[in-house]
Amino acid sequence: MASMPDLYGYAVSAERAVETMLEVFDSEINFIDTSNGYGADGASELRIGEALRARGGLPPDAVLATKVDPDPVTGDFSGKRVRASVEESLTRLGLDRLQLLYFHDPERIAFEDAMAPEGAVAALVALREEGLADHLGVAGGPVGLLRRYLGTGAFEAVITHNRYTLVDRSAEPLLADAAERGVAVVNGAPYGGGMLVKGPDAQPLYGYRPASEVAKDRVRTMRRICDEHGIPPAAAALQYSTREPRIASTIVGITAPGRVAQTLELYRWPIPDEVWDQLEPLAAPEEEWLR
Ligand SMILES: NC(=O)c1ccc[n+]([C@@H]2O[C@H](COP(=O)([O-])OP(=O)(O)OC[C@H]3O[C@@H](n4cnc5c(N)ncnc54)[C@H](OP(=O)(O)O)[C@@H]3O)[C@@H](O)[C@H]2O)c1
Repeated sequence: MASMPDLYGYAVSAERAVETMLEVFDSEINFIDTSNGYGADGASELRIGEALRARGGLPPDAVLATKVDPDPVTGDFSGKRVRASVEESLTRLGLDRLQLLYFHDPERIAFEDAMAPEGAVAALVALREEGLADHLGVAGGPVGLLRRYLGTGAFEAVITHNRYTLVDRSAEPLLADAAERGVAVVNGAPYGGGMLVKGPDAQPLYGYRPASEVAKDRVRTMRRICDEHGIPPAAAALQYSTREPRIASTIVGITAPGRVAQTLELYRWPIPDEVWDQLEPLAAPEEEWLR
C-alpha cells in the first residue's frame, strides 16, 4: 500500500492503494494494519487517511492498528520519539485516538534502552493510560525478543511475521507463550511476503530475503500437491494461519483492487484433511527458518 519496491519488487501508485483500501472498507474485512514507517514520508498512513476521508471516517465495525517507528533521520527510538510518532500517525490518518498501537520492530534497539524510564515502552504505557491508544502490542521479527517483551506484561497483542507459515514455523514457541499469557497473536505475511502465493520462480524472496533452494523446492512440491487437488496454493498458505486457533487474526498484504474478493475466496476454499497431512511435513528444515 505504501509502495515499497525494494521489498516487494514493484511500486504501487497512491490511486491504486486508495482504491484497494476503499474495497476493503466495503468488504467484511475489518482489521487494517499499518505503521508510521511504511513507505516514504508516511505513505501508507497518508493513503489510508485519504481513503478514510473519502468514507467520512473509520467505518464503525473497523479496527485500525498502527505502529510507532524511530525517527527516520536520526534513528531515535526514545519515549519522546514514540510520542512524536503517534502524533504524526494521528495527523496522517485524521484520527484523534488509536485503537491498537504497536511497538514496531523493537529489534532496532536494545531491550534495556526500550525498558528505561524515558524509553519507548514507558511512553507507550503512558499513551494508553492517557487514552490515546486503547490497546498496546509489540510487532517484530526475532521470536525470542518478542517473548521477552511479552514477559514485561505491557502488551496485549503481538505480531509475528513470516514465522508461522507453511514453510517456516519459528513462531511456535511464541504462540504457546502468548496463549498462556492471554496475549492475542496477529500473524503477518502468511504468504512469506509473496512467495507462497506467486510461487518461488515469480517471487524468489521469502521474508524479504532470498529464499534457500531447499525452501523453494518444498514450496514447488506444495504447489504440485495443491494443483493435483484443484486447490490454489495461496488458499493453503492463508488457511495455514487462519485455521490455527492460537492466532487471533491474520494480516495479508494486498495492493490491487480485486484482491479483497480473491482473499475471501482463498480463505473459504475447502481443503480436505488429507491435503493438510501432505503439506504439514513439507516445512523447510529448521536450520532454514528465520527464527
Ligand atoms: N514487523 C511487522 O510488524 C510486520 C512485518 C511484516 C509484515 N507485517 C504486516 O503484515 C502484512 C502482510 O505482510 P506482507 O505484505 O509483507 O506479506 P504477505 O501478506 O505474505 O504477501 C504479500 C504479497 O502477496 C501478494 N498477494 C496477496 N494476495 C494475493 C492474491 N490473491 N494473488 C496474488 N498475489 C497476492 C501481494 O501482491 P499484491 O501487492 O499484488 O496484492 C504481495 O506481493 C504487511 O503489510 C504488514 O501490515 C508486519
